[in-house]
Amino acid sequence: MTLTTPLDSPSAPVRPRDVQVATIGPQTQVLRSRTWDRLKFEVEYSRQRGTTANAYLIQADKIALIDPPGESFTDLFLAELQHQVAPPQIDYIVTSHVNANRLATLTQLLNLAPQAQIVCSRAAANTLKIALGDRADRLYPVRSGETLDLGQGHVLEFMGVPTPRWPDGLCTYDMASQTLFSDKLFGMHHCADALWDEQWRQLESDRRYYFDCLHNPQAKQVETALDLIDPLPLKTLAPGHGPLVRYSLSRLRQDYRQWCQQQAQQTLRVALLYASAYGNTAQLADAIAQALSAAQIAVEAINCEQADPNTLVDILNQCDGFIIGSPTLGGHAPVQIQTALGLILANVPKTKLVGVFGSYGWSGEAIDELERKLKDANYAFGFEPLRVRFSPDAAALESCTAAATQFAQRLRKRQKQGARPAIAEAHSDRTAQALGRVIGSLCVVTTQVNGSHTGLLTAWVAQASFSPPGLMLALPRDAAETSQLHSGASFVLNILKEGRSVRRHFSPQHCSTTAFDHLPFELASNGCAILTYGLAYVECTVNEQSCAGDHLLIYATVQQGELLAPGGMPAINHRKSGHQY
Ligand SMILES: Cc1cc2nc3c(=O)[nH]c(=O)nc-3n(C[C@H](O)[C@H](O)[C@H](O)COP(=O)(O)O)c2cc1C
Repeated sequence: MTLTTPLDSPSAPVRPRDVQVATIGPQTQVLRSRTWDRLKFEVEYSRQRGTTANAYLIQADKIALIDPPGESFTDLFLAELQHQVAPPQIDYIVTSHVNANRLATLTQLLNLAPQAQIVCSRAAANTLKIALGDRADRLYPVRSGETLDLGQGHVLEFMGVPTPRWPDGLCTYDMASQTLFSDKLFGMHHCADALWDEQWRQLESDRRYYFDCLHNPQAKQVETALDLIDPLPLKTLAPGHGPLVRYSLSRLRQDYRQWCQQQAQQTLRVALLYASAYGNTAQLADAIAQALSAAQIAVEAINCEQADPNTLVDILNQCDGFIIGSPTLGGHAPVQIQTALGLILANVPKTKLVGVFGSYGWSGEAIDELERKLKDANYAFGFEPLRVRFSPDAAALESCTAAATQFAQRLRKRQKQGARPAIAEAHSDRTAQALGRVIGSLCVVTTQVNGSHTGLLTAWVAQASFSPPGLMLALPRDAAETSQLHSGASFVLNILKEGRSVRRHFSPQHCSTTAFDHLPFELASNGCAILTYGLAYVECTVNEQSCAGDHLLIYATVQQGELLAPGGMPAINHRKSGHQY
């Protein structure tokens, strides 16, 4: 795969952006917002063939608009849409995934189409709930297999297709036209007048490039999506970008299978962990993933904001190396990266090759900390840590490519030399697995320090006395220090409820203060936070504390408490290893 391909005809004048409209089936139109030059800086656009953002309009008894484009096209698209339909008549806006870019058009559309409901996956609805505020009642979250009848045979069936990059991914199948609106699957960045894929042989390299950029790192999930799509009678694949597929339907699906399998057969695997608040570190991660894939390394890209700790540890243990990327926010790595680092240090053999990267603004402490902790733990580095200020430019992306290529070469060299985990390490892993079977209820310890609320996630808690009622907690020393849990201090132990995603706002290693900006809470009589979504809480006072190994053991008495959700069950922290929380 080539990462940068020059324009076919650099001197050709670039046509202005426009929206191409065409009928593609009964009561069904495509509105292709077209740009003939490179839309964004991300590597996926680097073949410089322009792109199209395809939206679809089905005007049956009910009217559905599928995937309005991102903000680069908002005005152009909305003007053209109004030639095709009166927006107040739109009943549903289907969004196959959500991001800030798409939100810009969506919010304007909601004003123009006051009746319209937003049909999306449950994961997308969770994101949109916050973004839409008082308009969140217009969300219409759907599950896989759910249908929506627009009349005249247009029954839409929804399929959840979550991937690491688009955890809220959704495909929509229209039974009347046998069309699958496939969003990020089966597309390409290629702008042309041809609506269909008659010339599909000429499109093959662009298709493959798009797959390599977007789907190679998530091939496992793409295969699952292919399994869902296979049984559908199909006349048209209607992707989010590029030409619609009618002439190469079986070929393209076969190609996708084959490309996924090629990825699975790679003998070397790299886990690529990252978080990114504003997309800059994600761009670096994309460029690294590209270059690793190009070097025939299987890549598992994991956005730590959505990762489950047990799955993360499994993936990390199965890979030959891992690369971790983080932005610096407020002088630190985001909590999710800190959690991932904790899991790595506790669970992942030191024989893995590692790399560190990140975007920062002025100081970049997160990258320094990742580097320091991994070096202290004796991991070998596959490239020098990559630091990029704010958004990456072409040179920065080139350095990502170079670093990833070097990483791939070093992995291969180690493979030849037959790097194996040390025996002692394997032995200690077995002990850790046994110890990991000790489990506890997930709780958040909240305190108030200088007027700020802090919260620490822990499952290392047990009842220690009946009369007076007393508890025992083991906490990391630094965190106990930050929470000021000294003798006589007050805290609330919030026992979490199964099925609520409160835990992701907290870390077991570091006290969080920002969680309280997002989570509802009330004040206990001792001034500490009671988490509204908890199962129960108890107000406590620290009686004694003593050092125990690398933790601080705290004995506290309980003053009072309450069950907040009588029908709920406590969230349990099942662990794979005694080296992790
Ligand atoms: C709220 C906030 C806090 C930040 N704090 C820091 C900081 O302490 N040190 C630093 O070097 N950059 C800081 N930055 C700059 C970010 O690291 C920078 O914008 C980076 O490109 C973000 O990467 P991302 O897009 O992957 O999230 C901060 C940015 C924001 C918005």
